[in-house]
Amino acid sequence: MCGIIGYAGHRPALPIIVEGLKSLEYRGYDSAGVAYAQKGRLNVVRSEGKLNVLEKKLERVNALSATCGIGHTRWATHGLPTEKNAHPHIDEEGRLALVHNGIIENYQELKAELQKEGHKFWSDTDTEVLAYLISKGCHLKDTIPEAISWALKQVDGSYAFALIDLKNPGKIWAARNSSPLLLGVGTGENFVASDIPAFLPYTREVIFLEDNQMVEMDANAWQLYDVETLNPLSKKNQHITWDLQAAQKSGYKHFMLKEIFEQPQVIRDCLAGRVDERKGTLVLPELEDMAIPKGLSIVACGTSYHAGLWAKYLIEAWAKIPVQVEIASEFRYRSLVMNKDDLILAISQSGETADTLAGIRIAKEKGVHVLGLCNVVGSSVARESDTVIYTQAGPEISVASTKAMCSQLVLMTLLAYYWGEKKGTLPKEIKEKILPGLLALPKQLKEELPMIRKKAKKLSKEYAWAKNFFYLGRGINFPLALEGALKLKEISYIHAEGYAAGEMKHGPIALIDPEFPTFALALDDFLLPKVKSNLKEVQARGGKIITLTHKGANIQEDDSWVIPRVSGPLSSFFVLPALQLFAYEMAVYLGKDVDQPRNLAKSVTVE
Ligand code: F6R
Repeated sequence: MCGIIGYAGHRPALPIIVEGLKSLEYRGYDSAGVAYAQKGRLNVVRSEGKLNVLEKKLERVNALSATCGIGHTRWATHGLPTEKNAHPHIDEEGRLALVHNGIIENYQELKAELQKEGHKFWSDTDTEVLAYLISKGCHLKDTIPEAISWALKQVDGSYAFALIDLKNPGKIWAARNSSPLLLGVGTGENFVASDIPAFLPYTREVIFLEDNQMVEMDANAWQLYDVETLNPLSKKNQHITWDLQAAQKSGYKHFMLKEIFEQPQVIRDCLAGRVDERKGTLVLPELEDMAIPKGLSIVACGTSYHAGLWAKYLIEAWAKIPVQVEIASEFRYRSLVMNKDDLILAISQSGETADTLAGIRIAKEKGVHVLGLCNVVGSSVARESDTVIYTQAGPEISVASTKAMCSQLVLMTLLAYYWGEKKGTLPKEIKEKILPGLLALPKQLKEELPMIRKKAKKLSKEYAWAKNFFYLGRGINFPLALEGALKLKEISYIHAEGYAAGEMKHGPIALIDPEFPTFALALDDFLLPKVKSNLKEVQARGGKIITLTHKGANIQEDDSWVIPRVSGPLSSFFVLPALQLFAYEMAVYLGKDVDQPRNLAKSVTVE
């Protein structure tokens, strides 16, 4: 997730901007930059890599008289993390400078139109397109707010941006839609930023901008507008009492919790530019040149492996492609029999996991096409795969993978749909329901998450005595059961086993007694009668059961936990946060260090 800061005040702007960017570092970034106007010139300084590289460049700059400027840390989404793609981006006339967070979904169409008009682009970013579009608006309209409003009417997607204009030094304009943006109100100075830490040393008075709101500000004043109508709006400041650490977690106690609650936004971002809301169609330009695979091997580790297992059910049912799912550390040491028409799908959040990378290399040596599905632009998986498709989930800071899995499930739902549609095998009901269902998910999940957390908290207190847990599921809920058990082990240090519910009777059921509870995924699908009969076997041995289910599924276990009824596999997007929040609340109740589980580090690269 990119970080934005804009400062208009009475002090030299650059030190404040750089300091603000440092306090946004936790959001993750791969390049950074600043822009300011001084002595009739618009100056932009950008660099690849960390902020110390930018700071080195800024040592050579004398910008003491600049009291207004913008800064940005970029988490690459469009184009590699290089200096040319770093923000700020300027318009062709060198008049406007823009920093942006989010995804302009129709940037390619807009870019093509602008190119037809003779405009030349220098970067691969959607942001540069937005800068050019606002610049065009400046020629058609009288004021910058009018130009912004005109430009934004043509833009689909999410954005939060801040803009400066050489012709109006000392002023900043900023607007948002589905990406965070705040106004920090100081005395003789005002700020815009993606998050509170950026200006916390200077002010605790904050205004949270809503979607389709724009702010115009200078050192002494600010005004909010509705982006569409340009009607002025009024809004009260909120006084923030958080310390810096709490502010970096948006007030959540842990990054894990913050990231679980980011999942509605993650779904939205993953769909951005892929599902056209108006036409109800799916586009995956990354896959256009790739043949539909005859067979698919999914290679991944840990949570990403569970996401792959989940996808197997969808891809086989919708696209009729046989799928094998392989733990990368096994795959790489087997005698592999691969077919040149097959495809290897390597899934990795970080894009740096050694076993997954080894799997990619082996497949490539054998001449099999590799599709990398990962979150980090420019990572090793991205670079080494023949084709790459990004989950667009933003950086995951918590050691436990949560929102990354959510984004992987979204993307693989799209893959299964895409191949199914291309092959003509997509079931009619799926064709009718899945894309609208996915588009409706972010809002539904956002509403539901507080309830899910409340229930997770209650159950965690009731089950904190347990030393062991079984997680059971069938069909697509089997991989989720594995994931639930993994999360409980990893975060709460409670022994947990995920099992296919039907496999219990073949041995593991011997372990069940009143001290060994079961977390059952018993959703109202065609496998429910089977799951119910497995649960009877557990009950017969005195095992206590938490049942995640749908209303009306007629479950009478010890603790039933009802989640909303949505189309088919989309239930998983409620099951997953329930499992994550249960593990999280257990860990918190048991006093575990949630963000730093022992012996684990993000981006596992050990052999
Ligand atoms: C679990 C977790 C790990 C990762 C695994 C793969 O919460 O974070 O199991 O999922 O190490 O990592 P990536 O997806 O980065 O390859």
